[in-house]
Amino acid sequence: MYTASAIFEKINSHIANLHFQYAPEGLYAPVEYVLSMGGKRIRPLLMLMAYNLYKEDLESVYDLATGIEVYHNYTLLHDDLMDRAERRRGKKTVHKIWNDNVAILSGDAMLVLAYQFMAKCPVMFLKEVLDLFSKTALEICEGQQMDMEFEQEEEVKEAEYIEMIRLKTAVLLATSLKIGARIGGASVEDADSLYNFGIQIGLAFQLKDDLLDVYGSTSTFGKNIGGDILCNKKTFLLVKSLELANSVQAEQLRSWFRTENPDPITKIEAVTALYDQIGVRGFCEAKIAQYTNLAIKSLSVLDVEDEKKNGLRTIIEQLMNREM
Ligand code: IPE
Ligand code: IPE
Ligand code: MG
Ligand code: MG
Ligand code: MG
Repeated sequence: MYTASAIFEKINSHIANLHFQYAPEGLYAPVEYVLSMGGKRIRPLLMLMAYNLYKEDLESVYDLATGIEVYHNYTLLHDDLMDRAERRRGKKTVHKIWNDNVAILSGDAMLVLAYQFMAKCPVMFLKEVLDLFSKTALEICEGQQMDMEFEQEEEVKEAEYIEMIRLKTAVLLATSLKIGARIGGASVEDADSLYNFGIQIGLAFQLKDDLLDVYGSTSTFGKNIGGDILCNKKTFLLVKSLELANSVQAEQLRSWFRTENPDPITKIEAVTALYDQIGVRGFCEAKIAQYTNLAIKSLSVLDVEDEKKNGLRTIIEQLMNREM
């Protein structure tokens, strides 16, 4: 069995060595650009770790792990366009370096490339894997649509927010684990348990992403801080703040949503100051801990020697404490 960091090194160098230098260059240069910028590679890592609970020959899952990462990177190209984000992994986003149409079309090409990698699945699992992957890809679109619609809404309930992040983020982590487990020969029960584990860590993961978007630092997080505040994103911080705020604070928050063309720095500072006053950061951290604990508990039902689960426990800890 491999350690998490050994698996990371393996899959990261595999992905870094891929080349997509086809013509026209204008279509594929952004693909290479985004795939060469690194990132945490958490989805392929989880897939390989789930596989490694059952089998050792990791190379046989590289194509699927690559497919998941290419797919994830495609969602980032389109997400950055939708979120008007200028920075990702410490570099300019594709639509900033090139333009909106390039982000759309190179993103589309990446979605197709992702399917090509996924289709290299062992024939025995091909239908199962493609069905699950397609279902997940649609769910992510559903989550992203909810995320956009929520920008225009003033009242989003915590349960609606959780459902939105389950769809836009958690299902891909869950599916990565489930595919890895199934290809490794896990029972449907074990694979489903790993899927549920993935949902819990995925929810914690997006909560932490929301937190870092306000309280992180650009140099480590790699994205511009305050982006969610500028877009009126209904993040956990905002949803919970509106629930906890007194009437004056709630009115101040709402008036910031309504202000057209605000000075960006002033808006970010003012909303962050309201979050601080309300003390919402602690609630967000508690929620992250809650889902993390659920994830750890859900590992106990796996029909695998307990020692083998330590790698996944380490990953949970790293994700919880991450600054990037
Ligand atoms: C960013 O994903 C999008 C979210 C679901 C929050 P990651 O945080 O995994 O981004 P990279 O791949 O490590 O850059
Ligand atoms: C990302 O949500 C979800 C997907 C990319 C599908 P965010 O919009 O919060 O991700 P970042 O913060 O831009 O990475
Ligand atoms: Mg975004
Ligand atoms: Mg987004
Ligand atoms: Mg975010």
